[in-house]
Amino acid sequence: MNLYEYQARELLESFGVPTAQGRVATTPAEAREAAEAFGGTVVVKAQVHTGGRGKAGGVKVVHSPEEAENAAAKILGMDIKGHTVHKVMVAQGVDIAEEYYFSLLLDRTNRSYLALCSTEGGVDIETLAEEHPDKLARVSVDPLVGVDEAKAREIADSAGFTGDVAYRVVPVLQKLWRAYHDSDATLVEVNPLVRTAGGEILALDAKVTLDANAEFRHNDYPDPDQSDGDAGELEAIAREHDLNYVKLDGSVGVIGNGAGLVMASLDVVAAAGKLYGNQKPANFLDIGGGASQEVMETSLKLVLSDRQVRSVFINVFGGITACDVVAKGIVGALAVLGRDANVPIVVRLDGNNVDEGRRILSDFQHPLVTVMGSMDAAAHRAAALAQAH
Ligand SMILES: Nc1ncnc2c1ncn2[C@@H]1O[C@H](COP(=O)(O)OP(=O)(O)O)[C@@H](O)[C@H]1O
Ligand SMILES: [Mg+2]
Repeated sequence: MNLYEYQARELLESFGVPTAQGRVATTPAEAREAAEAFGGTVVVKAQVHTGGRGKAGGVKVVHSPEEAENAAAKILGMDIKGHTVHKVMVAQGVDIAEEYYFSLLLDRTNRSYLALCSTEGGVDIETLAEEHPDKLARVSVDPLVGVDEAKAREIADSAGFTGDVAYRVVPVLQKLWRAYHDSDATLVEVNPLVRTAGGEILALDAKVTLDANAEFRHNDYPDPDQSDGDAGELEAIAREHDLNYVKLDGSVGVIGNGAGLVMASLDVVAAAGKLYGNQKPANFLDIGGGASQEVMETSLKLVLSDRQVRSVFINVFGGITACDVVAKGIVGALAVLGRDANVPIVVRLDGNNVDEGRRILSDFQHPLVTVMGSMDAAAHRAAALAQAH
């Protein structure tokens, strides 16, 4: 369960993490009032479940209530990577001296937590990890000990903080750990963590994911409110149909059976996509065991209603549900969808009754459907089609 930035800000603040003051506004007039209340420079920020808002024009620094009102009028209703902006946060403007990066996350492989920290903040962390891995400190955090003062020092040292800045960063990291641990979060990412001109350390942008399975332990979990347009609506539709769907930012829709296979599909699409104009997966969708026509129809509808999708990769391993049933599901779904199915679909089938499944699809001769023998080849084809479409 992802929190909006304003909810994340409130949560962090309740654990004593220093942040910039912020107020939510749903109309330009409310944004103006908030700016009046803060006075001076404020930042109007789109509240959507996606990063990179700054680059997309969803973060505006303004210097008067009038400008705040105008900025809010522009940002409200804006579409940011498939998310419609219904709310903005008006934040107190901060005089930034330096931007850093800090996150805490679950390290499933090592059954522990991981702290990531860098003195190069504000940038896209995936890019930093790829291009300057040496500038991103990775420090394992023992779940039983957490980030105590010694661990916080270790993290700050590894990231290259020194002197007075290190001294000031350490207690903030400890408070961020408290927030992460005590609220049962699976991710707390602060980007940027900043040092102000006055030397204060503030969490200026935060992404927090709470573990929905832990909700029963918390009376005070914020309202999940995932309704920021496409992504929220699509995820809500998926939940109604018991489908496990997560909207991502790419162009290749992915449908598969079994969480492991879908994760692997995302990886091969992301890898292949690099060769085709950096195409990326548009979503995670696990249809689980029963790939009936109905499930396939709902899944295809769901994936196709994402406006960013340019091709679809269906990757199914026939087990309990054999490949011929899956193939019939695809045929039936496309018959019902008719013209609503309007992007190329690449299918990779394997497993139980695979020959029959492939025969059904090739007899079907649907102009949008290509059947591929291997997962890799299918991912390449889907990425190439997404680029061409
Ligand atoms: N309250 C603020 N005062 C001054 N600058 C800010 C403030 N909030 C954000 N910024 C600037 O805008 C940039 C992008 O904002 P951020 O909240 O990180 O959004 P996103 O990560 O979605 O682009 C930050 O790196 C920072 O430089
Ligand atoms: Mg940010």
